[in-house]
Amino acid sequence: VVWDQGVAVTLSTPDVAGLSDVLQALREWQTEASPFQLHPGDLGWFWQFGAQATAAAVRTWRRDGHLLAVGLVDSATVFRLTTAPSARLDQDLAQQLVQDLSDPGRGVLPAGKVAVEAPNDAVVQDRLLEAGWTVDEPWTPLHLDLSEPVDRPPLRIEVIGPEQASASTAVHRSSFGSPRFTDHLWHTMTTGLPYRDARCLLGYDEEGTAVAEVTVWSAGPGRPGLLEPMGVHADHRGRGYGRAICLAAAAALQDLGSSSATVCTPSSNVGGIATYEAAGYQRRPERRDRARGA
Ligand SMILES: CC(C)(COP(=O)(O)OP(=O)(O)OC[C@H]1O[C@@H](n2cnc3c(N)ncnc32)[C@H](O)[C@@H]1OP(=O)(O)O)[C@@H](O)C(=O)NCCC(=O)NCCS
Repeated sequence: VVWDQGVAVTLSTPDVAGLSDVLQALREWQTEASPFQLHPGDLGWFWQFGAQATAAAVRTWRRDGHLLAVGLVDSATVFRLTTAPSARLDQDLAQQLVQDLSDPGRGVLPAGKVAVEAPNDAVVQDRLLEAGWTVDEPWTPLHLDLSEPVDRPPLRIEVIGPEQASASTAVHRSSFGSPRFTDHLWHTMTTGLPYRDARCLLGYDEEGTAVAEVTVWSAGPGRPGLLEPMGVHADHRGRGYGRAICLAAAAALQDLGSSSATVCTPSSNVGGIATYEAAGYQRRPERRDRARGA
């Protein structure tokens, strides 16, 4: 597509009905050439707060009706941005993004300390630095190629439905040491459009106790899939269940036709990275968000 550089880029927020076009674009933008970028599964995980909240957290940039960039206000101070592959080097878009991300009055990010994640090859990364933004803490992307068969997990795995939601959320709360992720949020998440391409897996030990959980999100056949989240119950660590649930995640994504299993975690999460590596995921070069404010 040849964009008419003269036409203005417009920022907007979709309504719930508009999310399906946004998700379709996000699916199409996922490729092995650019495996670490805002993924339909990121919106799927956010959907735990409901469809309205998800729509309200999305920002789109269009030129002449064509979607050029999509972002998610993932928390009050973290914005996760990606662009159409053909718009990565679009200078006018980058300029508009810098203005919209820098000015709290534009309704994207508040004043104060905030961070923006964007694809490595997006020129907006450089433009933000030139506008006075700095580099933030390092994150480590991990990638498992699914073109070859993956090892079977040495753990009984179930793809769960609503009946096992409580067991799954209990493992999650223990894994992350937080009471936040309730059954209600799980049920809301699974009503979301992206969950049609997702699977929630629970791993059981020999006594039948649920010990590990992961949710995997496909972006469609031949495209990178995403793990979000993955964890092992705090009482059951150090027994290989983390490695096993990461293998199960890869196998589930392979069944869904994904080209790879991907995940990105803060580089400070040494245990998480070691676990993915133990399951055969390979580290990719670290990446850093762009940050502003004290
Ligand atoms: C990370 C986590 C899943 C590990 O679970 P686990 O069942 O203890 O992991 P495993 O026993 O399968 O260990 C796999 C490998 O990682 C290593 N590892 C696990 N935790 C580690 C830690 N905290 N520090 C260093 N290495 C660690 C193990 O030694 C093992 O390595 P090996 O194969 O070379 O022996 C678990 O600690 C957890 O749920 N953490 C919180 C959630 C999280 O961070 N999720 C990932 C980010 S999304």
